Amino acid sequence: EWSMAAYREQKIADIRAQVGSGRVICGLSGGVDSAVAAVLIHEAIGEQLTCVFVDHGLMRANEAEQVVSLFRGHYNIPLVHVQAEELFLSGLAGVSDPEAKRKFIGKTFIEVFEEEAKKIGGADFLAQGTLYPDVIESVSFTGGPSVTIKSHHNVGGLPERMNMKLVEPLRELFKDEVRALGVELGLPPAFVGRHPFPGPGLAIRIPGEVSKEKCDILRKADTIYLEEIRNAGLYDAIWQAFAVLLPVRTVGVMGDARTYDYVCGLRAVTSVDGMTADVYPFSAEFLSRVATRIVNEVQGINRVVYDYTSKPPGTIEWE
Ligand code: XMP
Repeated sequence: EWSMAAYREQKIADIRAQVGSGRVICGLSGGVDSAVAAVLIHEAIGEQLTCVFVDHGLMRANEAEQVVSLFRGHYNIPLVHVQAEELFLSGLAGVSDPEAKRKFIGKTFIEVFEEEAKKIGGADFLAQGTLYPDVIESVSFTGGPSVTIKSHHNVGGLPERMNMKLVEPLRELFKDEVRALGVELGLPPAFVGRHPFPGPGLAIRIPGEVSKEKCDILRKADTIYLEEIRNAGLYDAIWQAFAVLLPVRTVGVMGDARTYDYVCGLRAVTSVDGMTADVYPFSAEFLSRVATRIVNEVQGINRVVYDYTSKPPGTIEWE
């Protein structure tokens, strides 16, 4: 009979068989998937695993600290924390095509992992928290012609030549199953219940060119939005909620002065597996409260819009 406990044992045996006595580097993104993959692999091969958390400067507010303290504090899993904001942001300067952004980020992640692997005397495998929907959506549109919708960085965004082989123990799982496996492995429920966050981070929530200034503006808006969602008790009813920063400036009025600032888009969806999604039906009062707070508290934004597009035809992320 199928159970998550049995699945865990099976995966541990699979990882041991694949890896042998090899060394594994696991890239932590700050999200649930890579954390579950890391804990599972650690259980399978212990000291042969080194976790690397690459801070690309495209994280949300306080996210880096949370991941580092979870791994160093809660588990005794060795964690290398790489500060790579400058590397990523300088490489993204002047890049505005969504696939070019994704490809650059995927390639740069691998370069950082390979550099870290060298420092520990070489690694044979790179572990990732790739899920089944990531695999499908990077390969083709279900039922249609073979068209890449977007290159999820932990699949299609990888460079063709890479020195390490991939270990992807979650490749057969959907999100809800990964969460169940996370609970089975003893991860804190609040961590396991976090909304998904994409590997390329805020870069794909800033259509067009990314800059540190735009990331800082977006982080402030996103924090307010999520704070209001939590205060309203809605966090767990929503699959994913986030703010995007549009590369459009519009005219507004603040006090008796003219403003000319960016537009912030709000997204919130319900979903089972991220493959299809419905718009979360916030009340008008809730949306006005968030819009008012963002415009009042975030310098650089003077207009807020709510994205009312389901998936399909929209995707969840804007790029
Ligand atoms: P889309 O935008 O394709 O997103 O409807 C579906 C789900 O996948 C997440 N997503 C990613 N996750 N690397 C990831 O690890 C990626 O490159 C990536 N792109 C999208 C997205 O946040 C949503 O949960």
